[in-house]
Amino acid sequence: MGMEKHNHSILGIIGNTPIIKLQNVAREVESEIYVKLEYMNPGGSIKERVAVNIIEKAVERGELKEGGTIIEGTSGNTGVGLAMSAAVNGYKTIFVLPDKQSQEKIDNLRAFGAKVIVTPTNVAPDDPKSYYSVAKRLAASTPNSFYANQYYNMDNQEAHYNSTGPEIFEQTDGDFDVFMAGVGTGGTISGTGRYLKEKMPDVKIVGVDIEGSILEPFFRTGKVVEAHSYVLEGIGEDIFPDNLDFGVIDDMVMIEDKESFIMTRKLLTKEGIYCGGSGGAAVVGAIKYAKTQKEPKKIIVILPDSGNRYTGKIFNDDWMRDNGYFDNSFNASISDVLEHLNKGDKSLISLGDDKTIGDAVDLMKKYGISQVPVISNGEIMGIISEAKVLRPLFESQISLRDNVAVAAERNFEIIDSHELLEKVADKLLDQKTVIVKKDDNLVAILTDIDILHYLQCKTF
Ligand SMILES: Cc1ncc(COP(=O)(O)O)c(C=O)c1O
Repeated sequence: MGMEKHNHSILGIIGNTPIIKLQNVAREVESEIYVKLEYMNPGGSIKERVAVNIIEKAVERGELKEGGTIIEGTSGNTGVGLAMSAAVNGYKTIFVLPDKQSQEKIDNLRAFGAKVIVTPTNVAPDDPKSYYSVAKRLAASTPNSFYANQYYNMDNQEAHYNSTGPEIFEQTDGDFDVFMAGVGTGGTISGTGRYLKEKMPDVKIVGVDIEGSILEPFFRTGKVVEAHSYVLEGIGEDIFPDNLDFGVIDDMVMIEDKESFIMTRKLLTKEGIYCGGSGGAAVVGAIKYAKTQKEPKKIIVILPDSGNRYTGKIFNDDWMRDNGYFDNSFNASISDVLEHLNKGDKSLISLGDDKTIGDAVDLMKKYGISQVPVISNGEIMGIISEAKVLRPLFESQISLRDNVAVAAERNFEIIDSHELLEKVADKLLDQKTVIVKKDDNLVAILTDIDILHYLQCKTF
């Protein structure tokens, strides 16, 4: 065979993306969650499968001719797929994007040589300024042009029926119970779902939708609700695309922006998976769905695109913080913190008020601690701390034989373990020693180092 097996363009390596099992982020459910890494496609998303099929079919039908211009209203990824195919085959491209799309996607399309037109996000689909309307108008007025129309062109769904579906079945031998994907145009869930149902009559096809979209409410109630805006790109609609076939879908799960973005970050830090926000959303959806199941299931989830399209947003700490998407760790309770640090399941080490400073130093040495409370009549009368006794001992102001009362400081506060960490942080800033009480027992001293350790573990 030699080099003949490499006799194809970049378009020849679309598909055959790997499936891996989540190791860490879904431990709260017994179901096994597997993810298909569509960002391993050469342009970084699942939409290349769609773009190539749409172009091939348009050429076959004579709708796209040599040197023609491909026009699309796209959330970005379909644009990359179309631009890639256009580059190889010599077409021109014009893309119309809503302004909530990330700058990286827009820059990426322009780098392919495409013309990119940005339209406002918060307008109705039938508004003349919407990206659907602008794309349609451009297609009508540009000579020798072809409107890819991924929402209504059934070659979108067909691409998944012919490639994503068979590929997943072959890769798994059908050894799974549930297929899940985010729903945008509906092409992925409907095409892949239709193929899988033909091969595996018992498989469940579950869509993931976002709060603010009209799709899941319609699926559940048959009613069309008013759409409202959300930040996540790729999932959810304010229209019913022809490519969405509710007949294939067994269930739908709703997710929100914040949980999706946090999961997208966790997929990178806890699994090494660098996918976009709709992948995080789909994993959140899969965990939610798994929780509704009586038996553990094997679930396959599509991760549609790459994280590198979102470096200015989801993977940017300032953006996450400014938009309120970071988990506020100070909202944790003190018992959460103790549990995290493996502290607080023993009783607190203390000593009686009849003991000497020498006894206190021995105790601190023995247990490797730096503070010890002094108990008098069942109550704490003060704290002996390593840092505070050292200098007076050196300067002979006190002696190891003195009673602990001489060096005990009253600058402490007892806080119940149900209180929020936020409260402790304030006390520590006031240089107070914080002693935690749980069910009437004193269980731990919390130090600023403890809190730093906790926050370090909780950040992404
Ligand atoms: C990033 C991303 N995720 C998910 C989807 C949804 O896939 P589909 O359009 O096949 O429903 C899209 C489609 O636009 C997307 O771009």
